[in-house]
Amino acid sequence: MTIIDYKGFGGVRLSADAGGDENDPAVLLLPDAGQGRSAWRAVADALVLSGRRVVNLDLRDDSEDWGAEDIATRVEDLRAVLAQLGSRPVVVAARRGGWIAANALAPDGAQLAAGLVLVDMPVNEASVAADTAARLALPTLILRGGFTAAECTPASDAFSAALPIGESVDIEEADLALAADRTEALLGQLLDFLERRQPREAMEFRAGSDPRTLRDAMGCFATGITIVTALDEQGVPAGLTANSFTSVSLDPPLLLVCVANTSGTAPVLRGARHFGVNVLQIGQQPASNRFAAKGEDRFANLPWASGETGVPLLDGSLVSFECERESLHEAGDHFILVGRVVRAQFEPHRDPLLYFRGKYRRLHFA
Ligand SMILES: Cc1cc2nc3c(=O)[nH]c(=O)nc-3n(C[C@H](O)[C@H](O)[C@H](O)COP(=O)(O)O)c2cc1C
Repeated sequence: MTIIDYKGFGGVRLSADAGGDENDPAVLLLPDAGQGRSAWRAVADALVLSGRRVVNLDLRDDSEDWGAEDIATRVEDLRAVLAQLGSRPVVVAARRGGWIAANALAPDGAQLAAGLVLVDMPVNEASVAADTAARLALPTLILRGGFTAAECTPASDAFSAALPIGESVDIEEADLALAADRTEALLGQLLDFLERRQPREAMEFRAGSDPRTLRDAMGCFATGITIVTALDEQGVPAGLTANSFTSVSLDPPLLLVCVANTSGTAPVLRGARHFGVNVLQIGQQPASNRFAAKGEDRFANLPWASGETGVPLLDGSLVSFECERESLHEAGDHFILVGRVVRAQFEPHRDPLLYFRGKYRRLHFA
């Protein structure tokens, strides 16, 4: 999570923890009066893991008691923050935070938010006017635990019944927002609502669509990362980061990599009789960055040695293949370089550096 400051009503600074990918559907979390954003932390972390962008917002101060004026100011704060977000989030509010959220979204909520979840919100006329619910023209989920069920049921029932696009779930005995052991129950309801009301968008590529979308589609295939190396005609080492590596055949032993014609290393790889493929381990992320960036002396201060065929092999790689060029196939804006493996040195105990959806990843053992 990173800390982001938003401008509230009158320019007051409001801090939030923000996590997840900015392109993912967003969820804005609001605490109860007297709580800070730490109250939502476990839920925020779980939502990020489930592929949501999360903004976990602090209110302007954490005083316990709110009069009508305090509520009105915070309503304006929330509307100001919503206007600063890049996309319309689902707003999830705990208890009296729900007063702020409901009042902020009653006028034109669908323009500011994709949905509203009110967790254990006490309903009383002074804080949430009777007609507020009727004006909430966006998908709204009321989650009620023991607190609301015991103390506010009739008013809360009336509020739920007045929602134009509402649904209401009672969770027995659950003081949802506050007790850590209730987080699971809350999350289950929340994720179900988000999947139905704010689905993660399915993307589509069709021939002729932009290459970026195709790249995103290809990025759904998780890979390792390699650095492909060779010597140029003067014997100077060259190499580039590539994840288009595949084993091809066991007998004869063949592998391939795809290299962009525009890459500066392409002429060296086209001309070389031998090339190396270094499969990276988790500690070699800096090398991966360096061999993908322009203008770097890629081999400077990097321990490497010449293999038996002369190709540069990077120290500490998970596996280093030395290959003799078998064949080369033109393929669109790339060429496919097929190599016959003459030697492979590997270190089976290291963890691989992984790549998925444009980001480095590491193995996760459940
Ligand atoms: C994770 C990752 C995987 C990549 N895979 C390939 C690949 O398979 N083929 C390729 O030509 N470029 C690939 N690239 C891009 C090159 O590494 C990058 O364009 C590099 O700057 C090329 O250097 P050069 O122009 O000096 O050859 C990849 C980059 C990254 C970060």
